Amino acid sequence: MTANHPLLATLRAIVGDANVLTEGDLSAWELDWRKRERGHALAVVRPASTDEVAQVIKACAAAGVSMVPQGGNTGMVVGSTPDASGTQVVLSLTRMHRIRKLDAANLTVTVDAGCVLQSIQEACEAQGFLFPLSLAAEGSCTIGGNLGTNAGGTQVVRYGNTRELCLGLEVVTAQGDVWNGLTGLRKDNTGYDLRHLFIGSEGTLGVITGAVMKLYPMPAAQLTAFAAVPSLDAAVALLGLAHKHLHAGLTGFEVMGQFALSLVVKHFPQQRVPFWQESPYCVVMEASDNETEAHARAVFERLLEAAMEQGCVTDAVVAENMAQAKALWHIRESIPLAQAQEGLNIKHDISIAVSSIPEFVRQTDAALEAAFPGARLVNYGHLGDGNLHYNVQAPAGDDAEAFLRDQEKPINALVYDAVDRFGGSISAEHGIGSLKRDKLEAHKSPIALGLMRSIKQALDPHNLMNPGRVLR
Ligand code: FAD
Ligand code: MLT
Ligand code: ZN
Repeated sequence: MTANHPLLATLRAIVGDANVLTEGDLSAWELDWRKRERGHALAVVRPASTDEVAQVIKACAAAGVSMVPQGGNTGMVVGSTPDASGTQVVLSLTRMHRIRKLDAANLTVTVDAGCVLQSIQEACEAQGFLFPLSLAAEGSCTIGGNLGTNAGGTQVVRYGNTRELCLGLEVVTAQGDVWNGLTGLRKDNTGYDLRHLFIGSEGTLGVITGAVMKLYPMPAAQLTAFAAVPSLDAAVALLGLAHKHLHAGLTGFEVMGQFALSLVVKHFPQQRVPFWQESPYCVVMEASDNETEAHARAVFERLLEAAMEQGCVTDAVVAENMAQAKALWHIRESIPLAQAQEGLNIKHDISIAVSSIPEFVRQTDAALEAAFPGARLVNYGHLGDGNLHYNVQAPAGDDAEAFLRDQEKPINALVYDAVDRFGGSISAEHGIGSLKRDKLEAHKSPIALGLMRSIKQALDPHNLMNPGRVLR
C-alpha cells in the first residue's frame, strides 16, 4: 500500500523524487535517538524551502495524511519519529539550512529552521557574536527542533531557554498557510504573542521554517572550573556564592553525581575525570567576563577561595586554556552518551526549586533504593536552573529491556509523585512527546490541559500535526 499511495506522486512533484524516501534503511528518521521506539513512515519528505513545506502540508492535509516534523532527530521523548502505522509523513527540515541574515546592530540572526545549532554558533562567532544556546547534541540538532522543544542546555542560567532567545518565527500552519513573524522586534504588544504558542509545541501546531534569534557580543574571556563538592547542599551553597561573585558572568553551572561520572570513566577511558573517586558530586562552572582574562581569573579565584573557606568545595581545577575548558565540559556532555552505552535507561528530566533539590534527592534516593534494590541512580544536570536528569539504570548485569518493561511505570510513579510533592515539573526541557504523554495527563492541572486542547483544536482541527504527541 505504501509504495502506491496516491499522495506520493504529488509529494515527488513538489520536492523531487530524490527527496521522497520510502525504501531502504530509514532508521535515521524512523528510530528515536534513545532507541526507545521504532516507527514506520509512509515517506520521509525533505523540502528545501518554506514554499515547498507549505505545498507538502497542503497536499498531506488534502489527503488526510498526518505529518511528523523532524529536525536532527535527537529528541529524548519519542516526538520526532513516526508511529508504527506506516501512514504518516515525516517532514524533515534538514535541507533548509541557510543563515538568512545577521543584523549586527539589531543583535539578531535570521535562520532557516533546519540549520544545525553548531553551524549557527560558528557562523555568528565568525562575525564576533555569541549565539549562546548550547547542548551536547549541538552537532546534529536543528534550531527548528530546539524551538519545537524549547530546549534548555548548559547556558540557561544566564541566557534562558530557546524561548528567551527567540524574537520571531516563520511558521507554516496546519492548513499550509505561511505566517511570517520574522520581525526581530524586542517590543511588540499587538495582541497574542503567537510565537510563544509554537515554541515548545513539539510540532503539534505547525511547522517552524525560520526564526529570528538573539545574539550577544562575544565575552572577552570565558573560564571553566571543575570542582569537587561534598554534598548537594554544598553544590547549592556554591551556586549561591557563584551568583553573588559573578552576577551575570555566571554562564554555566552543572552538577554530576559520582555514578554518572563513573559511567564516563568506564565508557570513555581516554577522558581524564578529576576528583570523581573521592567526591559524591562534582560541579562544572563557567564564568564569562567582559573585561579581561586576568580580571576573570581574579574574580573566579576569590569565588573558589570563599567556597573552600565555607567548606562547599573540597578541591577544584580551573582550566588554563580553551582546550582544557573544552575537555572539562566534554566530561559533562559525555554523560548521556555514556548512559546510552551502558544500556537502555529511564530518564527523568525534572525541575524543582533549587533550594529544595537536596531534600528531594535525599528522600527520593532513599525511596528508590528501598523499593528497587540494585537500581543504579544516575544523577546529573543543570543545577543552576533547578533541572536534574534524575535517571535510573537497571541493576548491574540485569536485562535492561526487561527492567524497563517491568519497572519503568512504578519507578516513574515514585519519582513523579515526589516531584509533585516538591512542586516541580515532570519535564524541564525535553518536552512530552509520546513517552510522557500519559504522565502529563496525570500531573498537569485539568484546566491547563483543557486550555491546551482548545489551542490544538483551533490551530489543527483535523489533528494532522504530530498527532498523539503531547496530548492524546
Ligand atoms: P527533533 O528531535 O527532530 O524533534 C524534536 C521535537 O521538535 C519533535 O516533537 C518534532 O516534531 C519537533 N520539531 C522538530 N523540528 C521542528 C520544526 N521545524 N517545527 C516544528 N516542530 C519541530 N535537550 C535539552 O533541552 N537540553 C540539553 O542539554 C540536551 N542535551 C542533549 C544531549 C544529547 C547527547 C542528546 C542526544 C539530546 C539532548 N537534548 C537536550 C535533547 C535534544 O537535543 C533537544 O530536544 C533538541 O532541541 C532537539 O532538536 P532536533 O532538531 O534533534 O529535534
Ligand atoms: C543533558 O543535559 O545532557 C541532556 O538533556 C541529555 C540527557 O538528559 O540525556
Ligand atoms: Zn539536559
